[in-house]
Amino acid sequence: MSQPQTLGKYQIQGLLGKGAMGVVYKGFDPNIARPVAIKTIHASLLDTEMGRELLDRFRNEAQAVGRLNHANIVSIYEFDQDKGTPYFVMEYVEGHDLKTLLKDGRKYSPEEAVHIVGAILSALDYTHKLGIVHRDIKPANVFITHNGQIKLADFGIARVDNAELTQMGSVLGTPSYMSPEQCKGQPVDARSDLFSTGVVLYELLVGKKPFAGDNTHAIMHSVLSEEPDRPTAKNQSVPKAFDGIVKKALAKDVSHRYQTAAAFRDELQKAVAPTKAGKSNNLVLMAVVAVVVLALATGAGMWFKTQRDQQYAQPATETSDGKLSAEERAKLERLINVAEAHFKVGRLVSPQGSNAFEAYQLVLQVDPQNSEALEGINRVKNRFFKRAQLLALEGRRDDVEKHLELAERLFPNDDRIMLLRNRVNEQ
Ligand SMILES: Nc1ncnc2c1ncn2[C@@H]1O[C@H](COP(=O)(O)OP(=O)(O)O)[C@@H](O)[C@H]1O
Ligand SMILES: [Mg+2]
Repeated sequence: MSQPQTLGKYQIQGLLGKGAMGVVYKGFDPNIARPVAIKTIHASLLDTEMGRELLDRFRNEAQAVGRLNHANIVSIYEFDQDKGTPYFVMEYVEGHDLKTLLKDGRKYSPEEAVHIVGAILSALDYTHKLGIVHRDIKPANVFITHNGQIKLADFGIARVDNAELTQMGSVLGTPSYMSPEQCKGQPVDARSDLFSTGVVLYELLVGKKPFAGDNTHAIMHSVLSEEPDRPTAKNQSVPKAFDGIVKKALAKDVSHRYQTAAAFRDELQKAVAPTKAGKSNNLVLMAVVAVVVLALATGAGMWFKTQRDQQYAQPATETSDGKLSAEERAKLERLINVAEAHFKVGRLVSPQGSNAFEAYQLVLQVDPQNSEALEGINRVKNRFFKRAQLLALEGRRDDVEKHLELAERLFPNDDRIMLLRNRVNEQ
């Protein structure tokens, strides 16, 4: 179907995407002069015995959801029909949906995951208390705006059971995020949303879905009967506490799950909050590392002085290991330890003269093929951009700018710079 020019009073400005239910357009409300998103309902869905009932249900849902007012929920402004096409008008979200962001199997840090999932749970806590179950929690319905705000879309719009949609010949979305009771076509309550949220949490931490398969059937089978691997078994940087949290959220039996969104969120927040003991342990650890770094750096500094003095006497080594003497190799190893220590305490590219990036670069000056240094530089870059992304997510524009300036100087060809730059400019 070609794109309409208007729907009701709304001007249609372009296509935002297609979902199971129909098409989503970018629209414009001329009265209020604001952009909106308009979700149309596919005619084939209404062309059935259930069509009439479905329309009534959408209207009821729109009324319930239209009353919701929460920072983490995409607002619904209106539900209407134009020449037989029913449509929802909603808040236009400028940002990215989490499905797109998760595409390359990227893992999120526990803090980022708790930031995102915590916001989803705040929204759910609010609606569950009003008796509204989302029913379709999945990354495609979670948006991260350019200001780093998390917004949950399609509240209640997915009131139609997936089973009904299949009966009506519509495309069934992925069951990867469906709860066991949803897969079985049984009635669902708020705890079904908490299961789906658990699936999203798992994917954020691990970079993979907990329940997978080649087809709908295989995925459903997995949801119903398989225990996913523990997050810590898949990603060692995940704190232990997350294993228990994920296990509880993904319990097949609803009575073993978190019973409320608030209880789930509280446990998550506890899992990333540094304990008092942890904090002081960290301080001790940092002090120890700092001393080690200092000692190693002094050694390395002396070594570099000697190295510089010898520079003219020795032609530069062109390739890796083979041409290095045992002594040189030992010295490079020491320098790599220095770099590693800097990395551990987060001195990625600063302060000047004492950071991981420079130390690895010094290694490469002597041994351009050194795989540990090459790999180390990659890790520095990844951590650096992750840090910048997190800052962008938190809307800390000035800090992101500082990171961008550094990145442009140090890694001018990395295309993550452009992505970040775009994100900042759009804010
Ligand atoms: N309120 C909105 N603002 C901006 N984009 C939206 C909005 N709602 C949906 N979209 C975009 O439209 C596309 C289709 O959405 P939808 O029909 O809800 O399908 P699904 O959630 O299954 O991906 C998605 O890619 C989404 O990014
Ligand atoms: Mg959606």
